[in-house]
Amino acid sequence: MLKKAIIIGSNGYLGKHLSFYLEHAGFSNQNFDIQNQPARKVGSYQPMDITIPGEFEKLDPQVDFIFLFAGLTGTSNGFENYKDFVSINEIGLLNLLTWMRKTDCRARIVYPSTRLVYKGRKNHALKEDDAREAKTIYAANKLAAENMLWMYQNAFGIDYTVFRICVPYGNIFDEAYSYGTLGFFLDKARKGEDITLFGDGSIRRTFTHVEDICSIMIETIQLEATKNEIYNIGGENLSLLEAANKVAKKFEVDVQFVEWPDLASKLESDDTVFDDTKLWSFTGITSSRTLDEWLYGQ
Ligand SMILES: NC(=O)c1ccc[n+]([C@@H]2O[C@H](COP(=O)([O-])OP(=O)(O)OC[C@H]3O[C@@H](n4cnc5c(N)ncnc54)[C@H](O)[C@@H]3O)[C@@H](O)[C@H]2O)c1
Repeated sequence: MLKKAIIIGSNGYLGKHLSFYLEHAGFSNQNFDIQNQPARKVGSYQPMDITIPGEFEKLDPQVDFIFLFAGLTGTSNGFENYKDFVSINEIGLLNLLTWMRKTDCRARIVYPSTRLVYKGRKNHALKEDDAREAKTIYAANKLAAENMLWMYQNAFGIDYTVFRICVPYGNIFDEAYSYGTLGFFLDKARKGEDITLFGDGSIRRTFTHVEDICSIMIETIQLEATKNEIYNIGGENLSLLEAANKVAKKFEVDVQFVEWPDLASKLESDDTVFDDTKLWSFTGITSSRTLDEWLYGQ
């Protein structure tokens, strides 16, 4: 039977890719975002603001999955704009959960969490149960959201699957990235500017191509047993210097090192490298693309 999906935040970097890959996987999509127009040609689109409870009346409760990919991302800006961060990232989710509770909507929520919920650890691949901490308002929002999903499942039986995403890259539509490491490197390098790294660039991350992120999510959620679970999405583990060097080489710029600004050094995590054993040992699904393949078509 045709599976139905709602994508909220369908104009965003991840949302528009998800919407595209869901269509290709044979899903019937309804797309929503706060912006007046869809970012790409889609079958069904309506503007909606998730911070307003009444806006959820626009949604059809008879769907299989609701992808909540509307959000506000950032680090130090959260300390200034905390109302927006809480309103979009936490109240927005609570509005969805409340609407689902009241309409008895049986869809599964698919929710994107982040590497920033982990306490980073040198030379350690993080598993889903490893220690968490929040150094920013954004990370606190994401931890709260993970807890709220569990809370509403426990109290009202609303199902979810959470995917923790580390550093996404790749864009099949344009050059935009909402936020994040690769977007920063590419913005600089495309302008012919050197890439600047704080410290010595030895911090390590897991880099995952956006197509792998979407296909892993789409395959995983179709399995009944992945309900009410949290999964790391794996990828290629690289230091920031290794990743920056690859981008710099491609665009013929250099990598420069600058001292950590005081606040940035306090907000940044140590290594956040993902162990995705939980996902692939159960589903057989993992990420295989590399940054070199994407940059050089190797
Ligand atoms: N990009 C990353 O590196 C990354 C990593 C891990 C998790 N995530 C999470 O994935 C989600 C999507 O991230 P993204 O990179 O696509 O972000 P993005 O900023 O590109 O997209 C967010 C979308 O949400 C929409 N939006 C904002 N406020 C809204 C509101 N009140 N109502 C409805 N729509 C609203 C925006 O118009 C935008 O299209 C976010 O929750 C983000 O925290 C992103």
